Amino acid sequence: MTANLTPASTPGAAPKKRRIFVTTALPYANGKFHLGHMMEYIQADIWVRFQRMQGHKVHWMCADDTHGAPIMIAAEKAGKTPQEFVAEIAATRKEYLDGFHLSIDNWYSTDSPENVELAQDIYRQLKASGFIASKTIEQFFDPVKSMFLPDRYIKGECPKCGTKDQYGDSCENCGAVYAPTDLKNPYSTLSGATPEMRSSEHFFFKLSDPQCVDFLRNWTEGLDRHDKKRLQSEIIAKTKEWLGEDGKLGDWDVSRDAPYFGIPIPDAPGKYFYVWLDAPVGYLASLKNYFDSGKAKFNGESRTFAEFLADPDTEQIHFIGKDIVYFHVLFWPAMLKFAGYKVPDSVNVHGFITVGGEKMSKSRGTGIDPLKYLKIGMNPEWLRYYIAAKLNANVEDVDFTAEDFMARVNSDLIGKFVNIASRTAGFLHKHFDGKLLERQSGVKVGAGEDVAAMSGEIAALYDGREFGKVVRRVMEAADFVNGYYDTSKPWELAKRAATDKDAREQLHVVCTSVLETFRVLAIYLAPIMPRLAGDAFAFLNISRQQWHDLHHPMAPGHAINGYKHLMSRVEEKQLDELFGLLPDPAAPAKAEKPAKALASAKGAASGNAAAKPAALGVQADGFIGIDDFAKVDLRIAKIVNAEQVEGSDKLLRLTLDVGETDGSGQPTTRNVFSGIKSAYAPETLIGQHTVLVANLAPRKMKFGISEGMVLAASAKDEQNEPGLYLLNPHTGAKPGMKVS
Ligand code: 2FM
Ligand code: ZN
Repeated sequence: MTANLTPASTPGAAPKKRRIFVTTALPYANGKFHLGHMMEYIQADIWVRFQRMQGHKVHWMCADDTHGAPIMIAAEKAGKTPQEFVAEIAATRKEYLDGFHLSIDNWYSTDSPENVELAQDIYRQLKASGFIASKTIEQFFDPVKSMFLPDRYIKGECPKCGTKDQYGDSCENCGAVYAPTDLKNPYSTLSGATPEMRSSEHFFFKLSDPQCVDFLRNWTEGLDRHDKKRLQSEIIAKTKEWLGEDGKLGDWDVSRDAPYFGIPIPDAPGKYFYVWLDAPVGYLASLKNYFDSGKAKFNGESRTFAEFLADPDTEQIHFIGKDIVYFHVLFWPAMLKFAGYKVPDSVNVHGFITVGGEKMSKSRGTGIDPLKYLKIGMNPEWLRYYIAAKLNANVEDVDFTAEDFMARVNSDLIGKFVNIASRTAGFLHKHFDGKLLERQSGVKVGAGEDVAAMSGEIAALYDGREFGKVVRRVMEAADFVNGYYDTSKPWELAKRAATDKDAREQLHVVCTSVLETFRVLAIYLAPIMPRLAGDAFAFLNISRQQWHDLHHPMAPGHAINGYKHLMSRVEEKQLDELFGLLPDPAAPAKAEKPAKALASAKGAASGNAAAKPAALGVQADGFIGIDDFAKVDLRIAKIVNAEQVEGSDKLLRLTLDVGETDGSGQPTTRNVFSGIKSAYAPETLIGQHTVLVANLAPRKMKFGISEGMVLAASAKDEQNEPGLYLLNPHTGAKPGMKVS
């Protein structure tokens, strides 16, 4: 491994600057944010920040989705007007958005004059071009509440098996599927009254019009302006199903009768737009408000809303969850197209987030409350990093497990990335007044590759929303840098530096190379962790870096600042608190057990380890049988990280690779505390192999859970000082090999 003393190559001509209008799905204003919302916003934020770092202009809009029957009814129940009700929810948004460093440019509301104007205009245009039909339909009507009843507010007896209190679409008992009108003895869940059938005129958007079907076929399967598919393959497959046979797409009922909390339909007294018509128009309403209120000017836009939208160079990109695809890839583009508006360039769909494999409920969210996460002092960028590490460009669910979260943050982020700065800064300050070498340098990564030369690859991954791959590549580079550091042994060079000029020079090369590479890695990670990157740039005493700065190394002789703690580790007790698992201080003490959140997140291998080991049967002659020995599962472990344990004068924290994987096949590591601090500087252990008792019951210690025990020989030496010697297998032993 060598240090590369030439600056990274300069890239070719700068690409054209993009202007992008980005949206994330508008949350219903009848509940607080849950983890699912945060995942979508974090995904979009990473993408948006990456584009901004490239010098592209991005305007990210969002808003509260305020209309519809459920919100009207919830407000009535709460004794509030719908406006008061949604305003209270809207007031809770900022704390989450700021808390998770989400760089949304404008947060607005669908209950706004702009949305009324735009939704009515779109409707008028659709009507003028012949895309609105009217039809009289029959529906259940609640005579007590004087309103038509959406299906979800009707219950009755299953027409097939007679089970009571079944919803109007299917029976929970026998699984029969039917229409609300098939229910026996139906009743309104709002008033208990027996609903009556009444007829009323409704307006329909003619999706079944052949022009519309043709347009949607082309649009859904088409390429965007960058010659990339505008929809993911899974979504294209779905749209093919939906658009399959001619006439399969039914017309869409876009009207509702009063009383309804919504936008009035022009020239149709007592009729309102169905919430799903005006909700996506809210994207445009937020954008209009952003321009009209002057906020866009602060973001470098001198044009008007109309000019911006009419510009063919303006890209329109939506981020949504997989549950609302139909609305966004059929209704919405068709509405825009036939009303003469700009159609979306692409719709990026993500899966759901589950916690410990459990599905989220749309109203209650998951077992993790994002606000509680922030309030108990957990770092928002841990979650951003974790979510990034798990995301790809497919419509796949992401699972949050406590153990995986701890491992990714503590072992990867802190153990690999932050570690680079923390272990190098001291040498540079002590020996060189914090000044870099007078020559440029960068550590080689992989086969002669330079970290800054990965920029094209990393940029393509970011642009394609392959954030998990970004994280993997950056952590591989961090491993490489740490490996370079270890083999260069700066601690030994430092010992010789006072008397050996070459050693001193080499120490300076190592520190400079490593810190310059740290700068590059901080740029790569900046879209995911903007604050951590900002702190890293402050430590390096350089301005906030943009993507083009990758190719501008720190100046020769540049002085960095003193190292300040960049990020702390996740503590197990924080996760216990997040999951509400902290023991009640008033309750009597119980036997120590790994926290449930951690235990449930563990795979089968460590599940076994959690079982109580059987007592070894020592025979009368003092021997044990081979079966007794076989109960101890000894494994080769690679020490991938070792570090001091704050507050302990005996322990080191070891992160061990024992060749294990989690349920999804991802490699996992173990955390083991070992009382070897007196004998080893932690950095000298990284990369070494040793032997682990792998089936020792996990032990909950003050500093976290220890998942096994590493073996060491110990005895007093000639000076009666304790000597400690960690076991070290011969070369060739691999993590996970059984020792027998
Ligand atoms: O599913 C939902 O939460 C909707 N409120 C999303 C609306 S997205 C857009 F169309 F407004
Ligand atoms: Zn039934």
